Amino acid sequence: MAKSRIQFICQNCGTVHTRWAGKCDSCGAWNTLVEEGTAGGIGSGPQALKSARKGRVVALTSLDGEIEDAPRIASGIAELDRATGGGFVRGSALLVGGDPGIGKSTLLTQAAAALAGKGNRVIYVSGEEAVAQIRLRAQRLGVAASAVELAAETNVEDILATIGEGRRPDLVILDSIQTLWTDLADSAPGTVTQVRAAAQAMIRYAKSTGCAVVLVGHVTKDGQIAGPRVVEHMVDAVLYFEGEGGHHYRILRTVKNRFGPTDEIGVFAMGDRGLAEVANPSALFLSERSEKAPGAAVFAGIEGTRPVLVEIQALVAPSPLGTPRRAVVGWDSARLSMVLAVLEAHCGVRFSQHDVYLNVAGGYRISEPAADLAVAAALVSSLTGLALPADCVYFGEISLSGAVRAVAHAQQRLKEAEKLGFGKAVMPASSEDLGGGIAAGSFQPETLADLVARIAAGRKRD
Ligand code: TYD
Ligand code: MG
Repeated sequence: MAKSRIQFICQNCGTVHTRWAGKCDSCGAWNTLVEEGTAGGIGSGPQALKSARKGRVVALTSLDGEIEDAPRIASGIAELDRATGGGFVRGSALLVGGDPGIGKSTLLTQAAAALAGKGNRVIYVSGEEAVAQIRLRAQRLGVAASAVELAAETNVEDILATIGEGRRPDLVILDSIQTLWTDLADSAPGTVTQVRAAAQAMIRYAKSTGCAVVLVGHVTKDGQIAGPRVVEHMVDAVLYFEGEGGHHYRILRTVKNRFGPTDEIGVFAMGDRGLAEVANPSALFLSERSEKAPGAAVFAGIEGTRPVLVEIQALVAPSPLGTPRRAVVGWDSARLSMVLAVLEAHCGVRFSQHDVYLNVAGGYRISEPAADLAVAAALVSSLTGLALPADCVYFGEISLSGAVRAVAHAQQRLKEAEKLGFGKAVMPASSEDLGGGIAAGSFQPETLADLVARIAAGRKRD
């Protein structure tokens, strides 16, 4: 019996199901399964095998040899180059993901103009906007005069034919991958099969010609179109462009990078004339700080190689509910539960009758466990109503036993704090030699209970 070629593919995570279901078993998303034929393209199975041809002999070569160009092309936009690890890598594919409207097209238009200005051949292919709209944006950004070559096209074969003409381009930007479709796959544009097949074709082009390819991908919540997740594993680097609605700054975060460090961030501010670089994000995150208020602690964090200071705000209020509420913005809620449990179990601080709200100022998102100590300080400060010293930064990881654990890069964190005018630090006991200055005025609690005692003693001191 012939095998059925109908599959149901989750548009969120790409898992293949043989039967339709309301919910994807793999990622838990609802209503994301879409029927897709498998003829041709990726995952075409037995169909493809039938028409398989004999392999062509590929010339093997050595590791040592001529490299024709500089391996990277730097845009000169420092925050972007930092996130990519020093510029776009020739022959690589980069995915830039983000919510619709966050500024992906703006960022890439600016990058394209900057690179074209340095004599690179840059092609910008938009499948979402008409040429007139892109021109309008370019005018707004003040880059309309740059030598970027522009096309509005969605068919992969046509795009490949177009960019194959003339001098090999240095950079090709495809905005967005979800609008592309190839003749090889017979699903609708935006489905997993199409997105994968189109990405595969563009990645193959990048590898074979040495041109850098940037794919733009929209993050989708409703699963109507396939998310960038489905091509993440195929590309060489993945950057996510994030930002909180209502805040004007945006963070470009490296999630994967085969040619450079991950965990790097680039910080931009969206203004009237596009994205401006923010060279000192700490100053930005701390700019609206109210120093005298209880419940706020400044965390000295590290993002990749760069120190970032950010304010953590806690509000602990008596709860009218049987099960008090816990709400977190910008941090991991499981981690908050853990810090609360440690405070209850080892420090005698009770939160069971209180609602707890935690917010990382400015819509920033922290992933480091080193924020534990700052969170604990903010929580205790809000509960007791005692403001923490304004010129103090906090960092350190808390273990379940209540011990304060050392974290990496203590010196860099302290240096950044000192630069921004902080005079004190609460941090884990460190074996590193941290020199004088702010380190000399630091308090190094061994357990979380020591810190709680010190905050409580603040009442008597003042
Ligand atoms: P866009 O780059 O089109 O987003 P994406 O490609 O990620 O969907 O940016 C859209 C938003 O950015 C839009 O809401 C308007 C805003 N914007 C500015 O505030 N200033 C500018 O100079 C530009 C070009 C856009
Ligand atoms: Mg766009």
